[in-house]
Amino acid sequence: MRTVHDDVKKVLLTREQIDERVAELGAQISKDYAGKEIVMICLLSGAAWFATDLSRAIENDMRMDFMVASSYGNGTTTSGNVKVSLDVRTDIVNKHVLLVDDIIDTGTTFKAISDMLSSRGVASIKTVALCDKKERRTAEIEADYVGFVIPDEFVVGFGLDYAGNYRNLPYIGVLKPEVYARAH
Ligand code: IMP
Ligand code: MG
Repeated sequence: MRTVHDDVKKVLLTREQIDERVAELGAQISKDYAGKEIVMICLLSGAAWFATDLSRAIENDMRMDFMVASSYGNGTTTSGNVKVSLDVRTDIVNKHVLLVDDIIDTGTTFKAISDMLSSRGVASIKTVALCDKKERRTAEIEADYVGFVIPDEFVVGFGLDYAGNYRNLPYIGVLKPEVYARAH
């Protein structure tokens, strides 16, 4: 019987590697924010898998909230190019905000959301991304915490999708070329 795993050409990051790195990031963040409450803001949908795992690796007081944003336009980096369709409901004034995304590619989305949240009277804002395609960056942003720097290759799994699918893969991998030829 066919499973979702059959569409994967290679595994780039195993579940074990991801779990280990999430534990390290959680320990680092717990230390950096010692004594402070964190408001973790997860960018839906992609970051949900990573953010919930990361939250369990952080030992501080924490609130968790979610945002849905999508970028459009030509890659310029103003907040005007990002559409927020679900905003946070938590009061972030004077809070320490930790913004979590699945992957930074050009950085457009992350930069716009980070700038938007910064302008709301937060005490601090830092960013976390599970994966970072450094070579592709056009926006002026570096995440404060990065899980893995990965090559410029399209990846799926652990929240990352291709046309809405493959988010449930418990690892990060590259799809077989024939998957892209097939209509979903
Ligand atoms: P950016 O604004 O160009 O940094 O785009 C970031 C968004 O693009 C991520 O949140 C993902 O939704 C998507 N993305 C970029 N690269 C990949 C990939 O390799 N696989 C799946 N989604 C990706
Ligand atoms: Mg996405």
